[in-house]
Amino acid sequence: MIDLIQQTAKIIHKANSIAILTGAGVSKESGVPTFRDAMDGLWAQYNPEELATPFAFEQNPKLVWDWYQWRRQLVSGAKPNAGHIALTELEQHKDSVVVITQNVDDLHEQAGSTDIIHLHGNIARNKCFDDCQGEPTIIDINTLEYDADTVPRCPHCNAYVRPDVVWFHEGLPSHALNRAMHLSQTCDVMLVIGTSGLVSPASQLPSMAKRSGATVIEVNPDYSMITRIADIKLDGKSGEMLPKVIHALATL
Ligand code: OAD
Repeated sequence: MIDLIQQTAKIIHKANSIAILTGAGVSKESGVPTFRDAMDGLWAQYNPEELATPFAFEQNPKLVWDWYQWRRQLVSGAKPNAGHIALTELEQHKDSVVVITQNVDDLHEQAGSTDIIHLHGNIARNKCFDDCQGEPTIIDINTLEYDADTVPRCPHCNAYVRPDVVWFHEGLPSHALNRAMHLSQTCDVMLVIGTSGLVSPASQLPSMAKRSGATVIEVNPDYSMITRIADIKLDGKSGEMLPKVIHALATL
């Protein structure tokens, strides 16, 4: 594994442009369950992919709203882990480092990464379900009056307020996706960290980078849909592997 760490550091050392695609695994060591972890407690009986949809919200807005309130509470106490911090330290060695994240938490921001693309939105933000003032109609729920038994309503049109995250069967924010695709086609190295590679179009970005001549390096303790195209696979937790890569890079 030491050789692979050294090899990774040398590849990064020579690279000009680095794109980093992260998934829920990078936040796991901060105590945030990954998307496909068995969810404990009240929600164990639900399949996330049956909750994170516009249809589920229309059918039962309170259930979906409460699920996001539970997830927000999980994230609110979380702090960046050594993996997040290692990615910010990478910026001290390289001029062009962009984090493209599927995650809806703000742990990359908290760690200090300076260029972050959120492909799937931000769980801390809310918007009008009908985007009545334009896409997205962001709503600050702290300015609204509502109680624990209700779902807040848009002050403009009275539609329900929903989390500003991408649900299944919804498109990604076009500006974010377009920039992520451009970076995938122009980077020298793509680090793919903590994702199962199951959800498109994010999961297509590593193949896009590979086809454009980039070196794809995966960090994941398990096998994923990305592993088969990765040039290097660092088998381990991001909080353990990434600091080792940064240490090796600093000694080059
Ligand atoms: P998943 O839960 O599908 O995958 C998490 C990945 O992280 C798995 O491959 C784990 O092996 C890996 N992992 C676990 N612990 C890790 C650690 N300590 N270090 C590194 N890797 C670790 O989460 P995502 O791939 O992020 O989309 O899921 C992608 C999307 O599916 C989510 O953004 C969400 C969901 O549908 C939307 O909500 C639109």
